[in-house]
Amino acid sequence: MINQINVGIIGTGWCGGIRANACADNPLVDKLYIAESNKERLQELKKSLKLESSTDNWNELIDNKNIDTIIISATPETTHFPMALAALKAGKNVFLEKPIATTLKEAEELIDISIKNNVKFTIGYSQRFNSKYAYVKKSLNENLIGEPVTCLVSRHVTRELGEKISGRTALSPAAMESTHDLDFLLWCLQPRKPIKVYSQTSGKLFSKNSNTPDHQWILVTLDDGMTISVGGGWILPLGYPNYSHTWIEVIGTDGSLFIDDSHKDVQLNTVKDGIRYPMSSMPGEPVEHTHAGPMHEETNHFVNAVALNKQVLVKPEEAKTVMELYIAADLSAETGEPVILPRNN
Ligand SMILES: NC(=O)c1ccc[n+]([C@@H]2O[C@H](COP(=O)([O-])OP(=O)(O)OC[C@H]3O[C@@H](n4cnc5c(N)ncnc54)[C@H](O)[C@@H]3O)[C@@H](O)[C@H]2O)c1
Repeated sequence: MINQINVGIIGTGWCGGIRANACADNPLVDKLYIAESNKERLQELKKSLKLESSTDNWNELIDNKNIDTIIISATPETTHFPMALAALKAGKNVFLEKPIATTLKEAEELIDISIKNNVKFTIGYSQRFNSKYAYVKKSLNENLIGEPVTCLVSRHVTRELGEKISGRTALSPAAMESTHDLDFLLWCLQPRKPIKVYSQTSGKLFSKNSNTPDHQWILVTLDDGMTISVGGGWILPLGYPNYSHTWIEVIGTDGSLFIDDSHKDVQLNTVKDGIRYPMSSMPGEPVEHTHAGPMHEETNHFVNAVALNKQVLVKPEEAKTVMELYIAADLSAETGEPVILPRNN
């Protein structure tokens, strides 16, 4: 007998919309509820999805005893902690988009309550569900390139996305963009731990109107002596809405692995818009009966983990380690000095 679950989604914009669609198609989800404060968006989803009910007040989902699982995809990022806290306290399983919280203390509180209430709790690090990225993990697990010596991930997204993100939060490119790549590399390279981080930002465009940098580089030393370099920028001109361009290098003692995730493989050229790169955003998009990109699969993984009582792939403690790392990177960028990890204070 399969155990179906009832899912409530708070915030159904870009990512929450993908998650709502994935849940609506998943036979392990019986009833689907949404909370969305934007009235137009709420109407749109009410028309396109079969919903048990919808509301503009997220607390109603928390109070609803029929809902066992909550997905939080609201913005700004300051909403994540109060929403996740309320959901976990109410004994619900929680999927929370990154970042896990805005302070380490909040992150710890969420983790503690999830353990106390024995519920599933995971953070949205969708790139772990990108098969090209999973291949890095596989090659390291199978020792295809020997001992890793250095890894690099360089990611750039469009300035529209950069403006959207930096317009709603003061969090850095490290916290909002490179967080995915820091999580991905630390996950692939487990059990190695970061011991030193140096970071620099640069900016000539966004800095005309705000304190927001255009780009941030992070250089991390791990406890076995290897280095990882992660760069995140958000000022590319539009190549497609939410276009993301990523290049990965993994160099080992017995080989190397280069991964092109620049999404140049699908090129649409029209007289009206010129060259565009469809299917090129980080979370992906629906394409007829399929879904390009990792977010759909990530959502199904979480639903399956709850319904079938399996482990979630992204442990919240790992998200806290990533947070410690990007906070240290931001401190290094601010002071111009390397930061030693773990930090005592
Ligand atoms: N994993 C990824 O690849 C990825 C990509 C982009 C964004 N994200 C993360 O996902 C989250 C959502 O980002 P997005 O781009 O979908 O944002 P978005 O702005 O498109 O959507 C957020 C939605 O939340 C709604 N909302 C805000 N406050 C609310 C409230 N109190 N109650 C109910 N609804 C509320 C808004 O109306 C909006 O529809 C962010 O935290 C972001 O960091 C992850």
